[in-house]
Amino acid sequence: MAQQADITAMRRAVELAARGLGATSPNPVVGCVITDASGHPVGEGWHQRAGGPHAEVHALREAGVLARGGTAYVTLEPCNHTGRTGPCAQALIEAGVSRVVYAVGDPNPQATGGADTLRAAGVEVGQGLLEDEAQAVNIAWLTSVRHGRPFVRWKYAATLDGRIAAADGTSRWISSAESRADVHRLRAEADAVVVGSGTARADDPHLAVRGIEEAVQPLRVVVDTEATAVKPGARVLDDAAPTLIAIAEDAETGLPDVVRLPRAGRGLSVPALLDALHERGVRSVLLEGGPTLAGAFVAAGAVDQVVGYLAPVLLGAGPQALADAGITTITEALRLDVTETVRIGTDIRITATPKER
Ligand SMILES: NC(=O)c1ccc[n+]([C@@H]2O[C@H](COP(=O)([O-])OP(=O)(O)OC[C@H]3O[C@@H](n4cnc5c(N)ncnc54)[C@H](OP(=O)(O)O)[C@@H]3O)[C@@H](O)[C@H]2O)c1
Repeated sequence: MAQQADITAMRRAVELAARGLGATSPNPVVGCVITDASGHPVGEGWHQRAGGPHAEVHALREAGVLARGGTAYVTLEPCNHTGRTGPCAQALIEAGVSRVVYAVGDPNPQATGGADTLRAAGVEVGQGLLEDEAQAVNIAWLTSVRHGRPFVRWKYAATLDGRIAAADGTSRWISSAESRADVHRLRAEADAVVVGSGTARADDPHLAVRGIEEAVQPLRVVVDTEATAVKPGARVLDDAAPTLIAIAEDAETGLPDVVRLPRAGRGLSVPALLDALHERGVRSVLLEGGPTLAGAFVAAGAVDQVVGYLAPVLLGAGPQALADAGITTITEALRLDVTETVRIGTDIRITATPKER
C-alpha cells in the first residue's frame, strides 16, 4: 500500500500538472515532484508550454545534486524519446534518482518505454499511484491520443426548465456573474472554442478569455457553412485571439482565415471539423453551442464531457439546451455519469460524461 508521503507528493504533482492546462498542446500536461534520499521535497516542476522543458527537467534543475538517491513522482510515465527536448527517463537516470513513481502509463507509441529504460538502469519503478486523479487532469490529451481527435467539452447555461434563451431570442444573462467568470477558466483550459453560425448571428460573441492572467488564448472557431454569419467587424474577428471560420468547400467568402470542409447533415461534417482542428494542434475543444450545433456533435458521438450551468430561473418558452441529436426513442438516450456538482454563485454547475456504450 502507498505511504502517505507518496500520496502527498503525487497529489502535489497533479496540482502542478493542472497549471499547464491550455498551454501545452499538442503535448500532455505533466507535473513532477522530487524528494531527496530522506523523503524531503527538493524540486518541483510542470510542463509549461509545448516545446519547453518537460516537468521532470524543471524539477531536476530545482533539486540539483539533492536528487541523487531520491524519488521522482511524475503524473505521466517519463518519456523515452527525443522530441523537441531530450528523453526524461535518461535525465532521471543521469541525475541519480533511485526511485520513480508515475501515475499513468504513456499511451503515445512514440514516447512509451520510459519505465523499461529506468528499470534497465537499476531504478526502482512504481506505477498507478493516484492514477484516476492524474488521468482526470490529463483527460483532454489522453482522449485525443486514444481517439485521434480533440477532446470535446460541451458547455451550456440554462434555466431550471432547460432553456438557453427566451422565446424572442434574448439570453443575456441567464447565468450568474460567477458562472460566466468560470466559463473564462474553461476557455483558458481549451485550445479552441467553437460556436455555430446561429450563435454568431444572435449574440456576436467575442469568445476570447478575459480576466485570467497569462492565459493562452484559444483559437476561436465559428462553424458558418455558407460564410454568411461572420461579417467584417464581428467581435470574433478582433485581434484578442486567433480566429478560424469553418465554411463549406463551395462557399464564397472574402474572409482570410477559413477552413473549407465537406457538407454533412444540417451543415458541415463534425468529424471533418475535428480532424482539421487536430491537424492544427488542437487537443481540447470547448463547444459553446448553440443547441443545433451541439445536437450535431452529440449525434456524431463527439461529446466527451458536458458542463451545464443551471440557473434558478424559469422561462417556460424558448430554445432548449440541446436540439435534435438523432435520438428518437428512449432506448437510444445518451446516458451520462455525473462526476461533479458544485454551487457557483446562484447557479449549480453539473459536470457529466457519457457512459461507455
Ligand atoms: N445559454 C447558452 O449556453 C447558449 C450558448 C450558445 C447559444 N445560445 C443561444 O442559442 C441560440 C442560437 O442557437 P442555434 O441552434 O441557432 O445556433 P448554433 O447551434 O450556434 O448554430 C446552428 C447553425 O450552425 C450551422 N451548422 C454548421 N454545421 C452544422 C452541423 N453539422 N449541424 C448543425 N448545424 C450546423 C447551421 O447553420 P449554417 O449551416 O447555415 O451555417 C446551423 O443552423 C441563440 O439564441 C443564442 O443566444 C445560448
